[in-house]
Amino acid sequence: MANIVVRTEHRVTRIEIARVDKKNALTQDMYRAMLEALAAADADAKVRAILIHGTRDCFTAGNDLKDFLERSPGGGPTASFQFIATLPKVAKPLIAAVGGPAVGVGTTMLLHCDLVYAAPGARFQMPFVPLGLVPEAASSLLLPMIAGYQRAAELLLLGQPFTAEKALAAGFVTEIVPEDGLLEYARTAAAAVAALPPASVQLTKQLMKRQLGAAIAAQMQEEGRIFAERLQSGEAKEAMTAFFEKRKPDFSRF
Ligand code: COA
Repeated sequence: MANIVVRTEHRVTRIEIARVDKKNALTQDMYRAMLEALAAADADAKVRAILIHGTRDCFTAGNDLKDFLERSPGGGPTASFQFIATLPKVAKPLIAAVGGPAVGVGTTMLLHCDLVYAAPGARFQMPFVPLGLVPEAASSLLLPMIAGYQRAAELLLLGQPFTAEKALAAGFVTEIVPEDGLLEYARTAAAAVAALPPASVQLTKQLMKRQLGAAIAAQMQEEGRIFAERLQSGEAKEAMTAFFEKRKPDFSRF
């Protein structure tokens, strides 16, 4: 798929998000392609690590807002839900390199990664509340655990953009790396983990995650249920319509 470029070289699968004209916003087809790439990499014994990155100036603007606006109530699980539900189950180390905006799932998917490298200009944001929605990808569980409640409350309730420094202090960025060398740095880290004994790496990851698996799955289900309801709300319609009309949303009538 053109907007998701998947390559496997030297025991590392690299998933590149590349929809430059729309700031790498993710459509359902793009989630499907990423899901397939994750499953294939996890099933392939020759692959030892998975690296996700965007383009130099943008990680991803998150879910395509047109897709949100057009989504009808009901229906089975979306590709986006399947993608986020798969993230905590990936057995191999997940590494991310983040330059520029990382909005919505662009930030929440990082909570499931093992190593996260960010450029100084990376801008994180979880604008679920400003969009009339609620958090997803178990971020309402994981962020308070990783960052502490007050830090998480600021980031999730206000939903404003924040810097790589703040993400580092919140605890979900491993290291801030100069923009010019970001991808290379992340590839070197992926190569380093890929050179280690694979069973030992995967068992260590499994041990670190095993207590949380069921709680993450349950939180994602509950978030997903409320999120689907919120997508049909007047508040969400107003927020998203305002984005495409390039104006400030007006929530005064709610
Ligand atoms: N869904 C659909 N289209 C999107 C998008 C998204 N999530 N994010 C950006 N785009 C589109 C814009 O509509 C614009 O399209 P146009 O050129 O046809 O008008 C194009 O991408 C460029 O976006 P723009 O807002 O002009 O770029 P910017 O550099 O000023 O800002 C962002 C970049 C990512 C900060 C900003 O686009 C943004 O906040 N996007 C929405 C993020 C969001 O709310 N995601 C959902 C999270 S749950």
